[in-house]
Amino acid sequence: MFKLDTIISLAKRRGFVFQSSEIYGGLNGCWDLGPLGVELLLNIKDAWWKSMTYRDDIEGVDASILMHPRTWDASGHTKQFSDPMIDNKTSKSRHRADNLIEDHIEKLIKKNKNDEAKIIQDKLDNVKENSDYYNIIIEHNIKDPISGTMDWTEVRNFNLMFKTYVGPLEDSSSIVYLRPESAQGIFVNFKNILETARQKVPFGIAQIGKAFRNEINTKNFLFRTREFEQMEMQYFVKPGTEKEWFDYWRDERWNWYLSLGMKPEKLRWKKHEKLAHYANMAYDIEFEFPFGFGEIEGIHSRTDFDLKSHQEFSGKKMEYVDTVNNERYVPYVVETSGGVSRGLMAFLCNAYDEETVSDEKGSSETRVVMRFNSKLAPTTVAIFPLVNKDGMPERAHNIYKDLQKNFKAQYDVSGAIGRRYRRQDEIGTPFCITIDGETLNDDTVTIRERDSMQQIRISASQIKQYIMDKV
Ligand code: GAP
Repeated sequence: MFKLDTIISLAKRRGFVFQSSEIYGGLNGCWDLGPLGVELLLNIKDAWWKSMTYRDDIEGVDASILMHPRTWDASGHTKQFSDPMIDNKTSKSRHRADNLIEDHIEKLIKKNKNDEAKIIQDKLDNVKENSDYYNIIIEHNIKDPISGTMDWTEVRNFNLMFKTYVGPLEDSSSIVYLRPESAQGIFVNFKNILETARQKVPFGIAQIGKAFRNEINTKNFLFRTREFEQMEMQYFVKPGTEKEWFDYWRDERWNWYLSLGMKPEKLRWKKHEKLAHYANMAYDIEFEFPFGFGEIEGIHSRTDFDLKSHQEFSGKKMEYVDTVNNERYVPYVVETSGGVSRGLMAFLCNAYDEETVSDEKGSSETRVVMRFNSKLAPTTVAIFPLVNKDGMPERAHNIYKDLQKNFKAQYDVSGAIGRRYRRQDEIGTPFCITIDGETLNDDTVTIRERDSMQQIRISASQIKQYIMDKV
């Protein structure tokens, strides 16, 4: 297991992820994707979009981020989308009460104080109200990590939605929220899509888009941020069939991660014991990050909560009319909800590898290699002239320009060939093509695969097909 700092440093060094507004000291909980990060992100979204919508029963949508404020009353976010917050009066630091307790439990486990950790965990699992968090913190002497004091305020609810105003007047009638989940944009469009796409239940609606949460504590790089992207799909089913579809979507989503090279031993299921107000079954897919397992996607059976609630708040019918069986009902919903940026971080961690290899002179060195699945790799192919003369750069550049029409490609002439390979290994490029003296005679090139480092010779005219077949 590698340290998170190792991944963060590679991500910065090679242009995957930068701190947002870095020249001003950064903005907490926000990150920017650099040239390689954005390619990786687009490849993840492309793979998700194709797997979810290139089928008969799922339609896409792209709803706006700002929605009518009643949306959030109906969804329950205005009242319930909050985290328990506690302040330390000495250090003026603010914490999520549950996270503070979890961090304390982790410390106890590290010190082998497993019995005490278990007692606190049981209490945490049974929290009913904010005063229960407070009592745990006081009873177990959980100190502020900054001031080391017990100078705590009470625990209060903190709503995570970002507020802003539409139009020129900043008053209560113009308040809107940046959406905290993309899902509601799907629910409010249920009827539009049902009618225009002429779908029949069961069918789904998929969306990729930004969501915003004013998280009390952001932590662990891209894991918990204030601005992030989600890829969500709501599958509308006949009530009573939700268990069958829930199982189906659990399998589909698990297998999607595997199909993109996620190591099975790094994934696990977590069943929700405490269900959200809208759910009757919920599981998370968790990935083993360097700091432990964390959720990357939730599969939730949301019943008819959302559609019924929008029906009530908007006064518009959300029923489905089954003309074949002469039935009408508000469909149940099975949701798959993944974080794009959190997924990107999981794919970065999953890909990172170090191995010892012999260099050209026979001495050993560490090779850092990002073993991305070739569908996700930010650069698919790199092209090098062996030396910078004898017509090799011209031929190499020619091949590069040709490959660029189909693949994200890089052209590199600088440094020894071994160093150029290492640079590509570190960004996870699956194929490197070298143009050498022989190329000029018979138009063959070497193609080297990242993981095996094996090189074979093929004709320049076959490169495109060779890569297409592998990707
Ligand atoms: N519509 C259901 C929903 O939003 P969620 O479990 O709150 O459910 C779904 O979020 C996914 O969105 C999570 O599995 C995670 O990947 C991602 N996510 C949620 N909060 C996030 C945050 N603050 N930063 C990054 N990703 C986040």
